Amino acid sequence: TTKQKVKECLNPFKLSTQDLNSVLERLLKEMEKGLKKKTHDSATVKMLPTYVRHTPDGTETGDFLALDLGGTNFRVLLVKVNADGKSTVKLESEICAIPQEIMEGTGEELFNHIADCLAQFLDSRNIKDKKLPLGFTFSFPCKQIDLDKSVLIRWTKGFQCSGVVGKDVVQLLIEAIQRRGDFDIGSVAVVNDTVGTMMSCGYKDPECQIGLIIGTGTNACYMEELQNVELVEGTEGLMCINMEWGAFGDDGVLDEYRTKFDKEVDAQSVNQGKQIFEKMISGMYMGEIVRLILIDLAKENVLFNGMVPAALQMKNSFETRHISEIEADTNSLAEAHKILTSLGLEPSDDDCELVRSVCSAVSTRSADLCAAALTAVSNRIRQNRDVDCLKITVGVDGTVYRKHPKKTHFHNSSLAPQCDVTFMLSEDGSGKGAALVAAVVQNKNMCS
Ligand code: BG6
Ligand code: GLC
Repeated sequence: TTKQKVKECLNPFKLSTQDLNSVLERLLKEMEKGLKKKTHDSATVKMLPTYVRHTPDGTETGDFLALDLGGTNFRVLLVKVNADGKSTVKLESEICAIPQEIMEGTGEELFNHIADCLAQFLDSRNIKDKKLPLGFTFSFPCKQIDLDKSVLIRWTKGFQCSGVVGKDVVQLLIEAIQRRGDFDIGSVAVVNDTVGTMMSCGYKDPECQIGLIIGTGTNACYMEELQNVELVEGTEGLMCINMEWGAFGDDGVLDEYRTKFDKEVDAQSVNQGKQIFEKMISGMYMGEIVRLILIDLAKENVLFNGMVPAALQMKNSFETRHISEIEADTNSLAEAHKILTSLGLEPSDDDCELVRSVCSAVSTRSADLCAAALTAVSNRIRQNRDVDCLKITVGVDGTVYRKHPKKTHFHNSSLAPQCDVTFMLSEDGSGKGAALVAAVVQNKNMCS
């Protein structure tokens, strides 16, 4: 029957508390592997040291440039770090598009484009001669050698520029600026977007020790005890770890929870077998999962009178933002009707209702997995600090989170009753946080 077919299709998206606990336990194991020298190379969750040792502490002030690459928008910003050295003001910002052919072109083309956008920004504000220090949010897995040296491990989220993996992205940026030869920048600091987000929330709330992104991709960072970070010398104090949890499952540990739709999305991606956890959660893939389910249900004669609409055959035709739009409309089916009609369909009310259930199944799983992973992190921090109850704030950003009508799903901390977790949405993105880290580098250079 229809009901049975729907159940068969959507049930695999429902994860029980036991399933989520098991995901959490597996993630904890992977985290441990990533942190240990002996197992780091084979670990999927890389737990990358960031060389950020504390949340904002006020080392340097003044004007800073920030670049923000790797989310939906590439942005250039001018940020003022205030006299207290902890708070920031965004003075100006501009979005600069990255065309698809540049995302898939050569590294030289990508960095030339970045330098061009930067030059234009400086030109239009008459500050080309200022040689400002720069915070570079580069939201991809990098092996950092220091705050100002960061080697790309692999591209994610559809980027594929040649000749960048294995190279220091700061060097590539500086070379592109030198090729132009019409302006110069001061010292550079590279941060992941999770780190920039944590830092930009951190000055308002010193308890903010986790950064979380649920956007095009998904990832988290947190403050770990340095003595547990075997890749970096030293035993005193803390270091921020960029987990790169999107790669969780790349060795198959999540296979029993993956549906045939997850496998299909992976098979069609440019990075097959990579970023398995990310592909179950983030904005780049959720719309695709829904689209594939809808096609399947149409073929099963449960949707759209058994016709598979041409519009839905096209990759990415069902956008992730449609999921939150449809789900936000809890009282009527108007939104579902509008979106399906715009795709060239003539949906019945039953179709609209079922499409909403599909959206809800996919986005609920995303939130459940994310909440479970976050629980693993907060529980680890609680044990590190040896406290019975941990009060902690998560700085969070990303379009999926911002737009989701049921944010509390992401906040579900029932798996970690001993952690009191607050969520803080970052304002103006991660650029301010990147500027705060650039301030630390600036200060270091001045001292040496
Ligand atoms: C932005 C941050 O607000 O959110 C970026 O400034 C981050 O650094 C991005 O990458 C993540 O969200 P999305 O949805 O744009 O990928
Ligand atoms: C991808 C990137 C990671 C980033 C995340 C969110 O997972 O590899 O570095 O933080 O997307 O943008």
